[in-house]
Amino acid sequence: MSDSFIIDINGLEKTYGSGSSAVRVLRGVDLKIAKGEIVAITGPSGTGKSTLLNLIGCLDRFDKGSLLINGEDVSAFNIDELSAFRNKNIGFIFQLHNLLPEFNALENIMMPLLIRRETKKMARSKAMELLKAFNLEDRALHKPGEMSGGECQRIAVARAIAGSPEIILADEPTGSLDSRNAIALLDILLSLCREHNTTVVIVTHDMNVAAKTDRVISMLDGIIINQ
Ligand SMILES: Nc1ncnc2c1ncn2[C@@H]1O[C@H](COP(=O)(O)OP(=O)(O)O)[C@@H](O)[C@H]1O
Ligand SMILES: [Mg+2]
Repeated sequence: MSDSFIIDINGLEKTYGSGSSAVRVLRGVDLKIAKGEIVAITGPSGTGKSTLLNLIGCLDRFDKGSLLINGEDVSAFNIDELSAFRNKNIGFIFQLHNLLPEFNALENIMMPLLIRRETKKMARSKAMELLKAFNLEDRALHKPGEMSGGECQRIAVARAIAGSPEIILADEPTGSLDSRNAIALLDILLSLCREHNTTVVIVTHDMNVAAKTDRVISMLDGIIINQ
């Protein structure tokens, strides 16, 4: 059993397409991440970082190898089991915030909790607490279109951590922000995650972001060259 690692990946392979248009994106990835670790994955564009993160996040299927999350072989799950597992264990942050435009900041943060069938009262109080932590209390009733990019991204981060997932996966989370907003966002995210012993995997090009993590993992051409 490899239950000492919350993420345990061996020989992971992924090819998009088939025949002459096949693109072999992951060519045997081995990676172990301990519970509570905060790591960065860096590497040139097109090397498979997002593909790897999506596989860890159970958003896609792989072809070969093994992927254990919290000791569970997620490749054995069907679609419904995967989405339940994802909702319970994983919080995602993308480069663009992906907030729901029709809903205000508070409602966006409450969403994963409501999906999980928490009471509205509990979801609201948790969301308010997060808005405070992110210094956005006065934006609670604003919709994404009425907030700045930096504010929307902070809301997206609050939404990702609202359900207290064991793992946060972030794909270029500060890629659309200026360096001041990027560092502010990262500081809040990492301090909340360290406080709750949350495992965090951040794909980033930004060396200032990578420098704030516990470990930097380098990818090149579909494999990990340094971890
Ligand atoms: N859904 C897809 N279908 C076909 N090719 C894809 C798909 N997603 C990614 N790719 C290709 O896989 C390679 C790795 O992509 P990606 O994982 O996004 O790299 P990175 O995040 O490191 O920039 C790229 O060549 C990309 O064009
Ligand atoms: Mg990418």
